[in-house]
Amino acid sequence: MAIPQQTIDQILDRTDIVDLIGQRVKLKKTGRTYSGCCPFHQEKTPSFHVYRDKQYFHCFGCQANGNAIRFLMDLESRNFVDVIKDLASQTGIELPKDSTEHKKLTYKKSTPAASTQTPSSATPPAFQPDDDPFYAFQMQQNEEDMASFDLAENQEGNLYDLLEHITQFYEKELALNHGAQAYFKQRGLSAQTIQQWRLGYAPSDWQHLEKAFPTDIEGLKHIGLIRTSEQGRDFNLLRERVIFPIRDTKGRVVGFGGRALNDEIKPKYINSPDSDIFHKNRLLYGLYEGSKNKASDWLMVEGYMDVIALSQAGIHGAVATLGTASNTEHLNILFKRNHRITIAFDGDQAGQKAAKRTLEIALPLLNDGRELKFFILPNEHDPDSLIRREGTETFKQLWQSAPLLSDFLFALLSQEYNTAHPEGKSQVMGELKNLTNLLPQKGSYRYLLTQSFREKLGLGRRFTAQVSHDASLSFNIQTRNEEFVIALLISHPYLYKQFEQLRAYVPKEELLNDILTILDRVFDLLPEDQEHAVYYMLGATSQFRDIISEILIRTNIFSLVDVPEKSFKLAEEYALSLQEDYLRKKMKQPQSLKESHNLRMQLNELTKQISLKLMG
Ligand code: UTP
Ligand code: MN
Repeated sequence: MAIPQQTIDQILDRTDIVDLIGQRVKLKKTGRTYSGCCPFHQEKTPSFHVYRDKQYFHCFGCQANGNAIRFLMDLESRNFVDVIKDLASQTGIELPKDSTEHKKLTYKKSTPAASTQTPSSATPPAFQPDDDPFYAFQMQQNEEDMASFDLAENQEGNLYDLLEHITQFYEKELALNHGAQAYFKQRGLSAQTIQQWRLGYAPSDWQHLEKAFPTDIEGLKHIGLIRTSEQGRDFNLLRERVIFPIRDTKGRVVGFGGRALNDEIKPKYINSPDSDIFHKNRLLYGLYEGSKNKASDWLMVEGYMDVIALSQAGIHGAVATLGTASNTEHLNILFKRNHRITIAFDGDQAGQKAAKRTLEIALPLLNDGRELKFFILPNEHDPDSLIRREGTETFKQLWQSAPLLSDFLFALLSQEYNTAHPEGKSQVMGELKNLTNLLPQKGSYRYLLTQSFREKLGLGRRFTAQVSHDASLSFNIQTRNEEFVIALLISHPYLYKQFEQLRAYVPKEELLNDILTILDRVFDLLPEDQEHAVYYMLGATSQFRDIISEILIRTNIFSLVDVPEKSFKLAEEYALSLQEDYLRKKMKQPQSLKESHNLRMQLNELTKQISLKLMG
């Protein structure tokens, strides 16, 4: 049985070495480690240490060391597979069995050609995180485990295993190549970051993979790392590039991105092609790593380097697509993890275009409760350069203050149209209508979005009053409230009942008063059919035809209010709000004490009604 390295890692991830050893050896917590008397040799003073953070034990007396698997193998004289099976069942991880799925993930191994020696495996890695005994142990351990299991398995290769081996190969090549190391250094990456992200280097040789993995040619072709030229010659896809291994949510390497060492070389990035185990449309770079670091706020960025730079700065929730545009699936992956996600965009034209496109694919996913934030980056910056220049705190603040979809959309549209004019406003509302048509039918988001736009444009609604000290402007808003009600009444005449009470308050000289008077007269005669009712109303108010059609266009009422529930709600709110307006106006006029008292009572009553409405 071949056990993929990733399964082994998973099992180790879920096993706590302190618990495991603690069940067999008496351990005492000493500072950051646990210590006890070594079970592998006789001693009276404890020199046996267990490190929880590294999941590793070490005896300073007899030099016994290793991970949980090694501990059980040595203590209980068991073999590797036996221990793994045991731990797998304890941790609830299934070991791979033969299945149809399995078939797709395997390839035929060939007999090795003349040279089977890996060029780099003979050389010890030059690059090691500062004398970390665990690192050295891990490298050695991997090689031992791999070697023994490859021998046992010579017919069939597993693609995941192959990718894992290639990742290790690239990692070692990075340790050997100073140019590649210098590249990462110049981009500000620490040794630890390089190790965590398993960054590597693909050497310049046209066939380095064939040389390193002579028995795995079929597998290498399957995952697209060996290509065949038109002349029929095989060559490696990724050469002289730094390597970004791409891991799936289980932490298995499933593909690679390779970046040229300087910006003159085109293309800048090459990604391994889709294969049976690599689906760019369903993967996000950084998702596994972010989850492992318990990220909960997710930020979609553009590039691998952005993800890595942010994580190095302590921001773990950044993810990127793999050189493709983000799609529904990508967004859904994130929405499953948090109802609120943020997408970062460049501040330039291209970024704005991308943002608008993303907005369109995101809208249908926004059922109630889901929120999308748009983090527009300052010009000339990507997240990588921004966090480097501004630091983590500022970056977090900028991210935090990123606008929600509604505000972002409003800014976007009002840049496109001149909202100082009624025409511009109705164009904005028209565009909004097109976009809100993409929203899910269920849920109130559509309505809320439209409302928030109306408020921002100063179209109606006083509840979230726009405070303005500009007299002409506030006059405009007043007028619009009434105009909106007129438009509502013409387009939905059956709403008259909601305004019946208001009639007593509307000044005689207002057009609204005329309309309400007409409605009072014709209400019982209105045709049942909504469309006919509108025609009827247009006829009944024909003496004001010009001004009414202007109002209908200006308020964009027909596209704005398209479902009865919405119009009812609006009518209710406007009726109360206008009534309040009129009462307040009246109170400003000279009047008797009794009258004034009376008005105040009415106003109090009204305010109560309004706040009840707002709460409900
Ligand atoms: P960018 O060109 O915006 O560059 O590519 P970047 O991420 O800032 O890269 P650095 O900082 O110069 O290294 C964004 C992403 O688009 C994909 C890659 O996934 C990259 O991370 N890309 C870009 C390609 O797939 N191919 C390319 O040629 C360029
Ligand atoms: Mn960049």
